[in-house]
Amino acid sequence: MEERLLRNNLQLIKSVKDRAGVNIILAFKAFALWKSFPIIREYIDESTASSVNEARLAYEEMGSPAHTYAPSYSDADFPTFLEYSSHITFNSLSQFERFYPQILTYGKKIQCGLRINPEFSVVKTDLYNPSAPGSRLGVTHKLIGEKLPKGVTGLHLHNLCENNSYDLEKTLEVVEKKFGHLFDDIHWLNLGGGHLMTEEDYDIEHLIALLKALKERYPHLEIIMEPGSAFAWQTGVLVATVNDIVENNNVKTAMLDVSFACHMPDCLEMPYKPRIRGAYQDPVAGKPTYRMGGSSCLSGDFMGDWSFDEPLKVGDRIVFEDMIHYTIVKTTMFNGVSHPSIGLWSMDNEFELYRQFDYADYKNRMS
Ligand SMILES: Cc1ncc(COP(=O)(O)O)c(C=O)c1O
Repeated sequence: MEERLLRNNLQLIKSVKDRAGVNIILAFKAFALWKSFPIIREYIDESTASSVNEARLAYEEMGSPAHTYAPSYSDADFPTFLEYSSHITFNSLSQFERFYPQILTYGKKIQCGLRINPEFSVVKTDLYNPSAPGSRLGVTHKLIGEKLPKGVTGLHLHNLCENNSYDLEKTLEVVEKKFGHLFDDIHWLNLGGGHLMTEEDYDIEHLIALLKALKERYPHLEIIMEPGSAFAWQTGVLVATVNDIVENNNVKTAMLDVSFACHMPDCLEMPYKPRIRGAYQDPVAGKPTYRMGGSSCLSGDFMGDWSFDEPLKVGDRIVFEDMIHYTIVKTTMFNGVSHPSIGLWSMDNEFELYRQFDYADYKNRMS
């Protein structure tokens, strides 16, 4: 990860926060590289958690209690969430009823939220669409009815994924229509993540105008946004090395020391084809063309094809672009494949190795 690129994103996010008068917090599920939190904390103070581990990381490494939302809470975990959270949002009315008594009697004040499901989304990929028909995420307006249960101080929605401010505008129209009658009874509204405000074409001025107008309509509401990807968008790469080149039926595959299944699972799940620095994104007739083969034994652990100006050879570097958000939090050790080392290129152009993984990391996960 490059500190300069991270700081560029942070500056932009902080300027939106300040100019629009909203609170923007970091969603750990997209990015939790805690050794970089001293940099992050220069710009923003808070973070979200979707598990007890993330909540504890917020408390210990961001230095502030978490805005917590998890799809469900268990009796065993709930006391830990209480300890590390400033906000706890429930996914259902039944979970709220079950756990609210504990919030009420807990020693410190915790804001209690309910996740709503607007049953509207612009997200095309079902895997990332929280409002797909039958979705388990959030409560519909029909289920809530006319009044919120006593004790709910905020509403939370998450409906976007790598979207722009015009998509947010459409979402807000639906949300206000379906849930606006409840806004008098709450103090805060969390607009979730998926706001890709650090993307080149994002219309920042439109976003700020939209947020300011929202605040004018509901001046008593604290508006919170919890993007993840936007923080680490285009801040770094995954560097691979070619270990071998194999050929079968005219298909050439560069066998890498990284894996799509273990290190870049979003490429297979979404799916999307990552960019490789210096390569042609689509095959070019007459140029050396290769699949990229992952290091696990999964047959489908490959993607392709990319073309290059020169034939690849063993030892060449393959640099996958934009591999910080979601890539690092999602890595697995399937096949015993190790996680890639993680480090920071500082503003002084020095490399700081954050973490290198070894046999103990693999072994300790197994039993
Ligand atoms: C509830 C919630 N908040 C925030 C986020 C972060 O979204 P993004 O990284 O797309 O900004 C997610 C992503 O899944 C989410 O589910």
